[in-house]
Amino acid sequence: MTFDPLRIRSEFPALDQNVNGKPLVYLDSAATSQKPRHVLRALDDYYERDNANVHRGIHELSRRATEGFEEARGKVARWIGASDPAEVIWTSGTTGSINLVASAWGLDNVRAGDEILLSVLEHHSNIVPWQLLARRTGAKLRYVEIDEQGRLILDDLDSLLTDRTKVVAISHVSNALGTVNPVKRIAAAAHARGAVVVVDGAQGAVHTKVDVQDLGVDFYALSGHKMCGPTGSGALWGRRDLLEAMSPYQGGGEMIHFVHRDESTWAELPHKFEAGTPNIAGAIGLGAAVDFLSEIGMDAIQAHERRLMEYALEKVGALDGIRIYGPESLDEHSAVVSFTLGDAHPHDISTILDAEGIAIRAGHHCAQLVMKRYGVSATARASFYLYNTEEDVDRLVEGLGLVVGIFG
Ligand code: ALA
Repeated sequence: MTFDPLRIRSEFPALDQNVNGKPLVYLDSAATSQKPRHVLRALDDYYERDNANVHRGIHELSRRATEGFEEARGKVARWIGASDPAEVIWTSGTTGSINLVASAWGLDNVRAGDEILLSVLEHHSNIVPWQLLARRTGAKLRYVEIDEQGRLILDDLDSLLTDRTKVVAISHVSNALGTVNPVKRIAAAAHARGAVVVVDGAQGAVHTKVDVQDLGVDFYALSGHKMCGPTGSGALWGRRDLLEAMSPYQGGGEMIHFVHRDESTWAELPHKFEAGTPNIAGAIGLGAAVDFLSEIGMDAIQAHERRLMEYALEKVGALDGIRIYGPESLDEHSAVVSFTLGDAHPHDISTILDAEGIAIRAGHHCAQLVMKRYGVSATARASFYLYNTEEDVDRLVEGLGLVVGIFG
């Protein structure tokens, strides 16, 4: 099927509106993506026809809800190349997934004096859970630094990885700069030292075909809402042997086998990690998002985003006073343009653009270590997805022209 951004765009009702009297240009998909009709219909269908609790009732609605819920798990498993749907745990998103690993795997495996290797490129969600673990266990945090283009400096990797390194937690794609990290190479080096590799895939599975087997990682965390799915949906993939050896994360219904007065036994994977009534509609909606993206094809989406990035970097890069953060090569730079413009504060840039109907994000992007690296408190960030067009970039550049006009 030929990739037709206008047809794709028409599938997203929220994009078809005026904001402040101008047609909306949505360039904040790294914060959350818009949702296609296919996903909205799946949510409506579930609530209108099948709504019931899963794995609990012996009645038709519960059967249907359970079937939809487990089918969606299978879709996500295939989507990321997992060999078994039981290795996919439903979570509330990437943050929930990483906290699950840091807490359940971490408390069982990390001891005082052990090391946790992160990078300064990480989103706070892939820093703070590890800081909490370090505080509880007495482990030490170490960091891979980034160069001027926001790429990991991997020359130091061999010295950063030691026999005490228990876990390497790294993002697939940076939300703040768009840097695509060489996860496969990092995983191989980490495994050579016996460390477990956890990947923050919040921006990875969104823009690129993920194959967890090929990447050679141990855990991969993703968020539904970044990839056309509902908010509050997400997944953690983990290697079966690691998941089986781990203690449960939270206790409650569904995750037990038997409950006795003083102790309990746990359900099989994946339910051992799914205490309480899960986000059933969210899981079904995420499955529908996977269907939607698969139908279009990740290769086509990636090629479209690359063309847009080429265009955006050229047009935005030509503005007076612009500074763009992130890799120069598009092989290493996903669909994010992070920038500052002269002396204009990013919040002012965003406010001026908003008046023109253009939505971007301004701030530290939950990546304060990245901001610190460049000595700025914030950047402005335009992020692209499959429904964006060159016209959106033109509108952005026009809007930035107004900023230049005001701030000089
Ligand atoms: N982590 C999200 C972002 O990058 C919210 O904007």
